[in-house]
Amino acid sequence: MEIKKNKLYFGKYCAEDLLKKFGCPLYVYEEEIIRCQIKKLKNCINYNSLKLYYACKANTNLAIMKIMLEEGCCIDTVSCGEVYAALKAGFKAEQILYTGNNVTDDEFRWLIEREILVNIGSLSELARYGRINQEIGSKAKTNKICVRINSDAGAGFHDHVITSGVDCKFGIYYKYIDEIIAKANQYKLKIIGIHHHIGSGILDVETFLYSMNVLLKYAVKFKELEFVDFGGGFGVPYNHEKKLNIDVLGMKIKQVFEKFCVKYGKELSLFFEPGRYLVAEAGVLLCRVNTLNKTPKYEFVGVDTGFNHLVRVVMYGSYHEIINASNLDDTKKKYIVGGNICESGDIFTMDSKGLKLREISNIKEGDVLAILTAGAYGMSMASNYNMRVLPAEVLINREDAKLIRRRQSFDDLLKEQI
Ligand code: LLP
Repeated sequence: MEIKKNKLYFGKYCAEDLLKKFGCPLYVYEEEIIRCQIKKLKNCINYNSLKLYYACKANTNLAIMKIMLEEGCCIDTVSCGEVYAALKAGFKAEQILYTGNNVTDDEFRWLIEREILVNIGSLSELARYGRINQEIGSKAKTNKICVRINSDAGAGFHDHVITSGVDCKFGIYYKYIDEIIAKANQYKLKIIGIHHHIGSGILDVETFLYSMNVLLKYAVKFKELEFVDFGGGFGVPYNHEKKLNIDVLGMKIKQVFEKFCVKYGKELSLFFEPGRYLVAEAGVLLCRVNTLNKTPKYEFVGVDTGFNHLVRVVMYGSYHEIINASNLDDTKKKYIVGGNICESGDIFTMDSKGLKLREISNIKEGDVLAILTAGAYGMSMASNYNMRVLPAEVLINREDAKLIRRRQSFDDLLKEQI
């Protein structure tokens, strides 16, 4: 993404040309940024047996999953649908980890039949997995499991994304570790990995390291480990916050883990499950201004997308920078940018307390706005609310712009209805 002649460009295309070619609104991703982020994380952590499991809930486009595969990532999934997509993208069963939540018996059966390694997050699920695995005729591969520990060291940018602690539904609370081991023995399951994911959008090194040390304290109780998985959570700045110092974090992670392995008496693999870090900054949502509407208090800018396409602002009060891609360098004015959904909360410029005026370069009808840092949890959380179609997605690779998901049609909106 660069600015040329007062306009926003992706490779040889300016934003307006992309919309002419592919329609509006449009998600645009830059392949180079994704590849760069993967390399950065790998280089900074620099541990021999490091494996990155891309948390594909952040963005489930097959083309993006394929980039992860090409870059040597494995994949973290949370539903059978995601596993299905990962297999379609070319991941082999042994490259997939399943960290579900409130998993049904049928889902366990489906996963066991495909020999997917399951990360189990409650004692109830552990017993049901064990029983179903025996019913199906347990194999060496499906006897191996990972367990998700609630290490009570949660953190994150919003209450809804903190995934550890007594108020949290995820993982087996650390006080029940003896029961985990007893249950696993009862069903002849081998616990080869332990996992935690403390939360999302973490920007400081200390929080990460603290939580790592907490999990490692419990890891020693498991005698047959092959890996420890510390989940995802690496944050990116959305509103000019200080970047996560990945160089320092990577170096310290390596130190802490190597020290642990000496104590454990075996070199274990080190897993992380980054989602946001790999794709957020690679994506932009382009939309067009159609309406300008005043009240005595605000100037509302109306665009042809809404929280149905990017729900993060409404859901968490998250900040997404918005720029006028048609006119980047003009007098700045203060606006409220609103979507086209029939709810007064469908606003892109607000926080958890309410509307917030945003300075954007002078806007007129027909201008293209770019909503930035939208590559993670944008399209993957989009819906058809108000019977509006999902946007198309385009991948920019050097000079080329490739359609990687077509825009939905009205027929798509009705195709499941009987
Ligand atoms: N592993 C597990 C088990 C997770 O639950 C998650 C995210 C990740 C990895 C990846 O986390 P990341 O590296 O992307 O922070 N919808 C929210 C984010 C929810 C994250 C849920 N779990 C958002 O829009 O910010």
